Amino acid sequence: MQFDTLLKPINDFLLCPTPQAWLDEAKKPERLPILLQDHLVCELKAGQTAMYLLRRYACNDESSKLLLQWLRPFEDFAYRFEGSLEDLKKAEKLSKSIIGRTDFEHADLIISKMVLLIREELHHFCQVLEIMLDRGIAYQNITASRYAKTLIQNCKTHEPQIFIDKLICGAFIEARSCERFSVLARYVDSELADFYVSLLRSEARHFEDYLQLARIFGGEKVSERVRFFAELEKTLISSKDNDFKFHSGAFDSTDLFIR
Ligand SMILES: [Fe+2]
Ligand SMILES: [Fe+2]
Repeated sequence: MQFDTLLKPINDFLLCPTPQAWLDEAKKPERLPILLQDHLVCELKAGQTAMYLLRRYACNDESSKLLLQWLRPFEDFAYRFEGSLEDLKKAEKLSKSIIGRTDFEHADLIISKMVLLIREELHHFCQVLEIMLDRGIAYQNITASRYAKTLIQNCKTHEPQIFIDKLICGAFIEARSCERFSVLARYVDSELADFYVSLLRSEARHFEDYLQLARIFGGEKVSERVRFFAELEKTLISSKDNDFKFHSGAFDSTDLFIR
């Protein structure tokens, strides 16, 4: 019951549910490695997006360097196959505080929300990796799906709109991840289902945080841009897609055989 309350704002925000065609593919045991590998990379990307916003807009130069160092072991693992789960678990938490720029209003608000978000995404990264190792699923650096790429490509290229658009995209990606975990939990084994349900609370808060920041910085223009990205997001999720990933559209294998 509490999850219905948690998911209500997410389902109200998104214009369509995950298509059954994607779920039918996702429940096949042979799809589990790609789902987990992509989920792992998505956790890192979520951390990187928040870190980009922090470094670009909110924190001072010294804190910016500290943030880069924080993420480095996770990037070394994902892109250079260096390090171990034990190394990453030790690197999850940030040891010093992040100091805001003095010339940017609400810098401290962005810092408090985004530092917590990064810490949670890095913890999720370790959790996914642990599940993969337990199941003998090797990590592979896989290509990105069209989903986040297309959303980001549709952000405006001038300030301050680019900042607001990126916050709105962050809200959609977090909201869709949350919705997808909630439906996927019905189709996977109990260990994975428990893990996906455990992620809902933090992913729902990440969605709320991005949307709140977009409203603070975007003012009246936010509703129009939210509508634009909502339609685009709906198209990406409900249209046919033959690349199966965590955020793919309605999976359609028929196109794979057309030459
Ligand atoms: Fe996460
Ligand atoms: Fe998240």
